[in-house]
Amino acid sequence: MISKRILSFFAAALLSIGITTARPDEGMWLPMLLKQLNEAQMQNKGMKLTADDIYNVNQSSLKDAIVSFGGFCTGEMISAEGLLLTNHHCGYGQVQQHSTVENDYLTEGFWAMNREQELPNPGLTATFIVRMEDVTKQILAGTEAAETEAARESIIQRNISKVGKEATAGTHYSAVIKPFFYGNEYYMYITETFKDVRLVGAPPSSIGKFGGDTDNWMWPRHTGDFSIFRIYAGPNNEPAEYSPDNKPYKPKHHLPISLNGIQEGDFTMVFGFPGRTNEYLTSQAVQEIYEVSNPAKINIRETKLNILDKDMKASDDVRIKYAAKYASIANYWKKWIGENRGIRKANAIAEKQQLEQQFAQWVAADAGRKAKYGNLLSDFEKNYNALEGITISRDYINEAAFGVEIVKLANNFTTLQSMLAQKAPQSDINAQVTKLENYSSGFFKDYHAPSDKKVFAALLDLYYSNIDAKLHPEAFKMVRTKYKGNFEKYADEVFNRSAFASEAGVKKLLADAKQGKNSIANDPAFELANSIAEYYRVNVMPTYTTVNENLNLLYRMYMAGLREMQQDKNFYPDANSTLRVAYGKVEPYKPLDGVQYTYYTTLEGVMEKAASGVAEDYAIPAKLRELYEKKDYGRYGVDGKMPVAFIASNHTTGGNSGSPVINANGQLIGTNFDRNWEGTMSDIVYNPDQVRNISVDVRYMLFIVDKFAGAGHLVEEMTLVTDDTSGLAQVDARKKETEQSSKKDKKKDRKKKKAKAEATAY
Ligand code: ARG
Ligand code: GLU
Repeated sequence: MISKRILSFFAAALLSIGITTARPDEGMWLPMLLKQLNEAQMQNKGMKLTADDIYNVNQSSLKDAIVSFGGFCTGEMISAEGLLLTNHHCGYGQVQQHSTVENDYLTEGFWAMNREQELPNPGLTATFIVRMEDVTKQILAGTEAAETEAARESIIQRNISKVGKEATAGTHYSAVIKPFFYGNEYYMYITETFKDVRLVGAPPSSIGKFGGDTDNWMWPRHTGDFSIFRIYAGPNNEPAEYSPDNKPYKPKHHLPISLNGIQEGDFTMVFGFPGRTNEYLTSQAVQEIYEVSNPAKINIRETKLNILDKDMKASDDVRIKYAAKYASIANYWKKWIGENRGIRKANAIAEKQQLEQQFAQWVAADAGRKAKYGNLLSDFEKNYNALEGITISRDYINEAAFGVEIVKLANNFTTLQSMLAQKAPQSDINAQVTKLENYSSGFFKDYHAPSDKKVFAALLDLYYSNIDAKLHPEAFKMVRTKYKGNFEKYADEVFNRSAFASEAGVKKLLADAKQGKNSIANDPAFELANSIAEYYRVNVMPTYTTVNENLNLLYRMYMAGLREMQQDKNFYPDANSTLRVAYGKVEPYKPLDGVQYTYYTTLEGVMEKAASGVAEDYAIPAKLRELYEKKDYGRYGVDGKMPVAFIASNHTTGGNSGSPVINANGQLIGTNFDRNWEGTMSDIVYNPDQVRNISVDVRYMLFIVDKFAGAGHLVEEMTLVTDDTSGLAQVDARKKETEQSSKKDKKKDRKKKKAKAEATAY
């Protein structure tokens, strides 16, 4: 019999393995460190490329095909002539801007049938990474002497601007320098930003947004969430402002597209710009998110969504006005619900506590460590305790108070009000009025006061009832005495009297301001907004700022301590909108006991959902049904089926939308657009059993472009491949071919000219 002691030894050993070694597939890695940290593991998982193939500053590599799309999504080059692939929901704003009632591209889709029809998008950018560099030493130079975090930070900011300037002097590049591991390290990304990015194609929303909010964050998924743009460049293939003379950009690399599809277990890699994660929070911080913040924010948003949903169902006008707002409120509402379930399922708080215990023991075992880290955990506790009442106030202020549109609108008039109160020069006032005129006209285009009034009453009531009276802004006292805490009565009063409730009212108010007259100060909506903002300034912000400065220092030390303690573990820094590589494999999962999800979906599922008739979210275009009925899938189908989406175990987050999913050979197999609901906690804790990224199968994209939209000329531009060799070599070969044929063409031309010249010479 095995003794209890041996058993508990094994249990402890298992636990510590779970904690100290990087879990499979977890992590968003720095491209320049892949060789050192990840190459061997990636190759073990089946990758046939080298780290140099992925990131190389001396010759073209995969990184030359990746862009930050507009700063909020990712895109990839898919042709030698600057064709860019991203998500439908990333290009949504642009498609919407070009849409009119006559040309409703959102509903009908848009396809440029030639280059002239490609549509410019002022303000839209695509940014490549030229190279990256570890600049920790330069950025931290001189910080040893700093006595406070604030002093340290100002030295760092000075260093950042100096190092960035030096690195880009005399070039058209920019430098982005950011802290990693809470400021233990700094990396510089040298970037090249293109400003002429044109819309080439987008499927109708019934394909690009198929499933809508019903399916959002969920697997199984059937969305063709992609759109296509093209980067244009000036002379010398360099960035230029929009001009009809610009030429399609010739990227150093574009991704060849594999027609071979995917199998369970295949190596996958996601290359893109993940926005923000918090993987190293303490147990107390996670507990705060799980018990306080997420439940409050979920409840507030749910209240608001219920009100809007009813009004949107009752009126087409309201539905259209609030469609985009509703989707964006619902997106994170749903994410937080999934996140909390995932935190519970992963036992994340207890896991973090265990890690902290292990850390405490490790610190206690050595005098030097005790001196350095001895107070760390108790300092964390003190600081998090100081946030009592602060976090919840911030959540209610952001989500409940400023979640009411009229309060947010009024709050934006704060600067103008102070200018008027202080009798600022009339020219300054007028400049501010102009800004607010633009802002307000956009605001009222999509505003329905009766709905907002209901939201006002409900959300402020939540704020009033759910948090302690000692955390109430001044205005709530007035609601208590004057309206007996009845927020509907209060809403009546505000919406009757406030100028902010109508466009005419705001226009009048701005006209008054132009005469130097202050009609803002005594407006009831402004008074409320001002009272909340004042409460924030006086009672929330000071503590919040100090505690965060403290926490930043504590996390910097904790991070350093953890890395010292777990020396054989590879650490990855939290996402911070910089270029990263995640890798994993095509993999199914078990969301619940007794339930197994397969790793891919097909057009059959689109038809099943369409037939179920659930919501407008599942309406489909007739043409798609026709192609389905004829099984007209061309070379993109397999065994009479059309693949649509698939999942894999890559660690991704918001910002990774539009990122290429790349196979073992460096070929494109999909475009990332979402995460599964069970996996949304991976921003805080990664659970390898449950975390999957969701991608459009690249064959569905090709099918839609070619068969559905009849835009085969775009497919012709791409490099479609079926052989199992390096994608880099394939693209190089293809480039050489076109170069040679264009050289041949030129030679022929020259010969012809010569012949002609000779002929005419006689
Ligand atoms: N959940 C995805 C993301 O976070 C997609 C959001 C857009 N789609 C939607 N149905 N709202 O961006
Ligand atoms: N849809 C998200 C985005 O736009 C990606 C999903 C996620 O958070 O993983 O970036």
